[in-house]
Amino acid sequence: MTLEEKPRVLVTRRMPSAVLSPLYRACEVDFHDHSQALTHTALCDRLVEKDGLICMFNDRIDEAALSVASGLKVIAAVAVGVDNIDVPAAKARGIIVTNTPDILTRATAELTWGLLLAVTRRVGEGDRVLRDGGWTGWTFDFLLGTELHGKQLGIIGAGRIGQAVAAVAPAFGMRVVCAAWPRQTQRNKKPFECPVLSLDELLLTSDIVSLHVPLTAETHHLINRRTLVRMKRSAFLINTSRGGVVDDVALAWALDQRLIAGAGLDVFEDEPNVNRELAKKENVCLTPHLGSATRETRTAMGELAVRNVLEVLAGRSPVTPVSLNV
Ligand code: GLV
Repeated sequence: MTLEEKPRVLVTRRMPSAVLSPLYRACEVDFHDHSQALTHTALCDRLVEKDGLICMFNDRIDEAALSVASGLKVIAAVAVGVDNIDVPAAKARGIIVTNTPDILTRATAELTWGLLLAVTRRVGEGDRVLRDGGWTGWTFDFLLGTELHGKQLGIIGAGRIGQAVAAVAPAFGMRVVCAAWPRQTQRNKKPFECPVLSLDELLLTSDIVSLHVPLTAETHHLINRRTLVRMKRSAFLINTSRGGVVDDVALAWALDQRLIAGAGLDVFEDEPNVNRELAKKENVCLTPHLGSATRETRTAMGELAVRNVLEVLAGRSPVTPVSLNV
């Protein structure tokens, strides 16, 4: 790069121009102005000679992508989860990886409660019956759900989002417990105070189990046949973390066997594909990965990613670097 040359940054998905305008002022921007992702080959082609990358959680930034981008200095994920990025490989190449924690906590916690209420009170089922013209009128025992008051919410992954979900529970008269594993506090913040149980104890005793762990080798298929059989038959599973944390086939099996009462799922193992068996079940409420999908949060996520890129390209520390132990 000569003195006059601006750094080059690839933005892999459509984002509002107001969010990107500080980037345009300082950089030469290669903007994939589409809502659909680039293919991996196209992503690699466009990464050549880039100094910065703004990417989404479903862009695969692996060794192949990193190896074409010899000048890359910063990868700014517009996401909190960075399981799509080979972070150790990036760090080994001296590339700074950043994400967008905190600002999406509230939106994701709200969606978690939305799914939790929808599945326990059978909102999706009721909506489908009405639309299909199948409602014949009020009856005493039609679509009876499960009341939350007095029940136990088990949080697996009491980090930022898990704690924000837990904080709402007392308003519904629920008890909260969290799993001692894999990680339960975040730096510099007082954790939400609640009993800490082993994973098995939490599964055995909770009426709602809500997942808030990052996807890592340790959490992949954390919810599987062995853990599902530990849950109460009356319990519900909620997942707004990453699809890979749940073995979808095992979950469909557990629902068939009536080992649990239902599930609320925002994330799936093979997005955008949804396990067809799960999608057929009335007692499963599905949303298409909407955890952070509010106007306010998505704007803030985009702005933070842009800021992170600009800070690094100006030789300063990013606002929200990803540490190796995420
Ligand atoms: C979205 O799933 C995110 O990790 O922010």
